[in-house]
Amino acid sequence: MNKTFFAEKLEQLNFISKEILDYTSTHKKFIFFGEMGVGKTTLIKALCLHQV
Ligand SMILES: Nc1ncnc2c1ncn2[C@@H]1O[C@H](COP(=O)(O)OP(=O)(O)OP(=O)(O)O)[C@@H](O)[C@H]1O
Ligand SMILES: [Mg+2]
Repeated sequence: MNKTFFAEKLEQLNFISKEILDYTSTHKKFIFFGEMGVGKTTLIKALCLHQV
């Protein structure tokens, strides 16, 4: 399963993070890979805002 999501601005993260959660709805674990400072923590925060 491969799909690419782009969030080039912080304002796009709310929408993109919801799309990611919808696309991965059957998954319960995520692993984040990325160079230092690319936005991992920021994306994780955006993902968590959708969780109840
Ligand atoms: N999608 C984005 N678009 C623009 N800027 C972003 C985006 N995501 C994060 N940033 C900015 O990039 C910077 C680094 O983000 P963040 O701290 O989330 O990176 P990180 O991968 O967790 O870093 P580290 O490896 O140090 O833990 C922050 O200033 C953040 O606001
Ligand atoms: Mg971080």
